[in-house]
Amino acid sequence: MTEAVLLVGGKGTRLQPLTINTPKPMVPAAGVPFLAHQLARARAAGVDHVVLATSYLAEVFEPYFGDGSAHGLRLTYVTEDEPLGTGGAIRHAARALTSGPSDPVLVLNGDILTGLDIRGLLLRHERAQADVTLHLTRVASPGAYGLVPTDADGRVLAFTEKPQRPEEIVTDQINAGCYAFRREVIDAIPGDRPVSVERETFPGLLADGALLHGVVDASYWLDVGRPASFVQASADLVRGVVRSPAVPGEPGEHLVLPGARIEPGARIGGGTVVGSGAHIAAGADVQGSVVLDGARIEADARVRASMVGSRARVGPRTVLDGAVIGDHSRIGADNELREGARIWCGTAIPDAAIRFSAV
Ligand code: GDD
Ligand code: MG
Repeated sequence: MTEAVLLVGGKGTRLQPLTINTPKPMVPAAGVPFLAHQLARARAAGVDHVVLATSYLAEVFEPYFGDGSAHGLRLTYVTEDEPLGTGGAIRHAARALTSGPSDPVLVLNGDILTGLDIRGLLLRHERAQADVTLHLTRVASPGAYGLVPTDADGRVLAFTEKPQRPEEIVTDQINAGCYAFRREVIDAIPGDRPVSVERETFPGLLADGALLHGVVDASYWLDVGRPASFVQASADLVRGVVRSPAVPGEPGEHLVLPGARIEPGARIGGGTVVGSGAHIAAGADVQGSVVLDGARIEADARVRASMVGSRARVGPRTVLDGAVIGDHSRIGADNELREGARIWCGTAIPDAAIRFSAV
């Protein structure tokens, strides 16, 4: 039996306005809440019990996922009264685990899309007899992540969360947000206050001489915590660039959910998903985007790499490129919203009011 803790309590601030009413893991990617992809991948790796460590908007998870049986696993919900940070949340969630002291427990950040071989990570953990085994990946700009240099045997040498100074960037290997913990290591995390696993637990374990083992892996990896990466993740799931058993359809250039209406003469592609009840009018061109339930894209609008919130309306001939339109917003005709533009939920923008971008 393999158990996992999934960290889903963050506020998702960088994904606003999508996360105003919906916690980040519940925002739909490729037609289902992002979390469904992580659960499906965990299950495929042999995980049979997942503890969801919730905090922000905790109440919305259980009505959707229930006891987990529809997803082929057992789900337990553990909610923090106050956010306890990543380490505090792991410790707090551990009360629901049944694993023994030396059993491995998987811990997953709730906003990562990856093709990692999770079973392989557990095997490496066992072989290394490590206290914690960390999935690492290489990125071009490591500064926004946890930096994790290792020696030739994979032993972790340091853990520097979001380095403040350029000289601290000593590696391009970063913490990819998936760990195998020996259960008793989790139980040693303080349980009565907020703890960051990245800033406190990992550096503390290293200082105490614990064995932290890093597994560098080159498979698909994306943190979906920003709008551009969220949209990218959804498009990659739709196209099958990264596979998830939870995608409701076969890989292809678009995914149109039941109840959506695409008028003849509309073009959709690049991994676009069109939610149920959404309407794409004739002449509209929608590429690599997420169009949520009940949204309307009017005639001759051009939408690329954007997120259109549920029941939002994008007016005729309007151009969106790298934009996020909050739920229920109404964008008039002939607007142009580009890179980084975010329109708050319920906002009304008149015709031809914005010609380039609004950040
Ligand atoms: N339950 C609970 N309580 N969950 C939390 C809390 C909390 O207080 N704080 C954060 N989380 C969850 C978030 O929901 C998310 O799934 C995960 O913990 C990581 O938080 P993020 O806010 O997404 O962190 P990050 O992206 O800045 O950095 C983390 O991920 C990087 C990889 O994407 C760190 O682990 C970095 O070291 C890592 O490189
Ligand atoms: Mg993140």
